[in-house]
Amino acid sequence: MNKVSIIGAGQVGAATALFIARRQIADILLVDIVPGLARGKALDLSQAAPVEGYGTRIAGTDNISEIEGSTIVVVTAGVTRRPGMSRLDLLEKNASIVKGIAQDIAKYVPSAIIIMVTNPLDLLTYLVWKISGFSRQRVLGQAGILDTARFRYFVAQELGVSCQDVSAMVLGGHGDTMVPLPRYTCVSGVPITELLSAEIIAELTERTRRGGAEIVGLLKTGSASFAPGAAAAQMVEAILWDKKRILPCSAYVQGEYGIEDLYMGVPVKLGAQGVEEVLKLKLTPEELKTLRASAEVYRQGIEQLTPYL
Ligand code: LAC
Repeated sequence: MNKVSIIGAGQVGAATALFIARRQIADILLVDIVPGLARGKALDLSQAAPVEGYGTRIAGTDNISEIEGSTIVVVTAGVTRRPGMSRLDLLEKNASIVKGIAQDIAKYVPSAIIIMVTNPLDLLTYLVWKISGFSRQRVLGQAGILDTARFRYFVAQELGVSCQDVSAMVLGGHGDTMVPLPRYTCVSGVPITELLSAEIIAELTERTRRGGAEIVGLLKTGSASFAPGAAAAQMVEAILWDKKRILPCSAYVQGEYGIEDLYMGVPVKLGAQGVEEVLKLKLTPEELKTLRASAEVYRQGIEQLTPYL
């Protein structure tokens, strides 16, 4: 069995563990610095196994050196937003947490693939890539699957169809400037531009952009966890089973879309090597402009990372 370690046993870490456990694709180690938290969550998840019928081994620890031997490390540790905050407001608090984790991953599992989940996602994925010294193939971030899942759900609700039949594409940073692409969003192959008015599409894309904040506003003391966890588990599966799935993920761009030296949401081919390819979609000048504007926000954000690099 492959081993997948999840750093951070809060809501997102536990949800990721649950979705991986249900897929029965790896042994899971939950890690958290809060004494007892990871072990408690692991025990609780293990006790759901007789009911749910998964045979997955799930352990917990507060000792990060136990991640040794992991094929994949998922990083969910850090603080979450409160109502009114943007993901970028979390940078200062989470950058130092994540930096230490990246150093530990490089020390204990130098051959692992790292899936970042902590916000601000694209900037912290860049930080982890820099600090770990890993290749760009082996460091990526979870966001695009979550953002497209939200878009798919909203489109399905609007049209009264199953969300399983809706596929979507959302590019750019995981933040207010993300770029949902209606031309590449389809219901069983039919682009939604043929099914919905421009006005409705604009409403759905805006709701997708604010998807995380909508949930933070409702919860007040936390942020989304089930959909982010499900999305991370899907990435883990694509890598462990070498599925070569085409999924939007935060990946290092090196000239693709005319953007360089940044992590942001792009469609990638995800397999055993991690990011095996960054795909280049044909974009209209307008779409490209919106994507580059999103990139600009993250370029400025990278400057704020300087003290941690
Ligand atoms: C969200 C946070 C977790 O989009 O980034 O819900």
